[in-house]
Amino acid sequence: MPNTEVFFKWSPEYSVNIQTIDNQHQELVNILNRLFIAISKHEGDKVIAGILDALLGYTQTHFALEERLLKQAKYKDFDAHKAEHEKLLAQLDQLCKKHLLEEKPIYFEMLSFLKNWLKEHIKGVDTKYSAALQLSGFSVASWEREATREFARMSDSKKWWEVWKAA
Ligand SMILES: [Fe+2]
Repeated sequence: MPNTEVFFKWSPEYSVNIQTIDNQHQELVNILNRLFIAISKHEGDKVIAGILDALLGYTQTHFALEERLLKQAKYKDFDAHKAEHEKLLAQLDQLCKKHLLEEKPIYFEMLSFLKNWLKEHIKGVDTKYSAALQLSGFSVASWEREATREFARMSDSKKWWEVWKAA
């Protein structure tokens, strides 16, 4: 695999038409692409574990903000969406644990799993609410301002955020 190759290429079809959410999804894709580079360049277990931790921390923060948006907008499928988030987080947690326990690296499995996992979250789960929110006439502008502040508050001085910024 050449190192210059982008592992997960962002495309407009992933947009949910809410800028803050799109930005966060793109950042999740960036973390996965960074993980791909760390694996291709054999940067070592410690670096890889740090990036995985950042992916988990970023995802938890992103899901919490997304759930807040859906709740404020009184999204009718809120419970189902939250359950999907919980399922995806449990899968990610399991993968991180498996990675720590396996004797042989499971990098290939991990990368393809994460790519599908992110696609499932963005395309399979999130595109469902964007249309509903737009139809309901809910104004996302004030939520976006709040979410940006909240993200800073939730990630500031967190270890995973420091690791990611330095990666
Ligand atoms: Fe999302």
